[in-house]
Amino acid sequence: MDLKKQHDEDRAEVAARFPGPDYREILALLHRLLQPARYLEIGVNTGKSFALAKSPTRAVGVDPEPRVTRIDNPNANLVKATSDAFFGELDRVRTNVTFDLVFIDGLHTFEQTLRDLQNAERYSHPGTLICIDDIYPLHARAAQRQRDSIFWTGDVWKILPILHTYRPDLRIGVVPCVTSGLLLIAGVNPRSTRLAEAEDQYVAEYMDVPFTTAAHDQALGMLPHVPNTAAAVTAFLETAGLVTAP
Ligand SMILES: C[S@@+](CC[C@H](N)C(=O)[O-])C[C@H]1O[C@@H](n2cnc3c(N)ncnc32)[C@H](O)[C@@H]1O
Repeated sequence: MDLKKQHDEDRAEVAARFPGPDYREILALLHRLLQPARYLEIGVNTGKSFALAKSPTRAVGVDPEPRVTRIDNPNANLVKATSDAFFGELDRVRTNVTFDLVFIDGLHTFEQTLRDLQNAERYSHPGTLICIDDIYPLHARAAQRQRDSIFWTGDVWKILPILHTYRPDLRIGVVPCVTSGLLLIAGVNPRSTRLAEAEDQYVAEYMDVPFTTAAHDQALGMLPHVPNTAAAVTAFLETAGLVTAP
């Protein structure tokens, strides 16, 4: 089957599987509710999710190969670099900047995603929300570490059991939404070193684990779910103490 036809079929399948708002609508809701002073996005591509950060939010987007043609937010800054290089530079200049909302949607491997999470958490504060895309692969092909389809999540789904094991202190919510789900992470701790210390161990343990629906279902079952509605996402933020109930 040609790639375009496969992609159209995949999109129809995820739309049927995940009724409710898509991930960008959820992100737009998060911007409205949290009104972040500083927003960080890892993986910008054409800038559709990055455009949800409106002035006066100071937005930083990081992507080694961005395809953005226009940015309307005068407070936005696009950094053409890998996330590792970006955080390396923050470390080098010893900045004390922190982000209020972070969206991780860069290189879709589990170890890079967890490194992005570790790094983002170091530049967070207890009121920060970190969101991660691509936790629901549609099928084994989309979950391959090497990209072989337009619809690609890589093996980011493996972060679910790893976070369950190594970061039970985080307050996590799994939102089943188009296109590939969204992980909400609150209760972050900028001083936590648990993921960094366990990196060799979890990479060795999970690198060769294949995607199967059963393995993914088991991983999903380890973490709390947030129904894909504005009300449920709002309630998650309220319970996590990130917004106050009216
Ligand atoms: C799925 S796209 C991002 C889509 C965008 N967040 C949206 O929802 O509109 C993934 C992007 O991650 C970028 N990327 C790949 N490796 C990266 C890395 N190491 N650090 C940061 N971004 C990376 C790619 O260049 C690509 O543009």
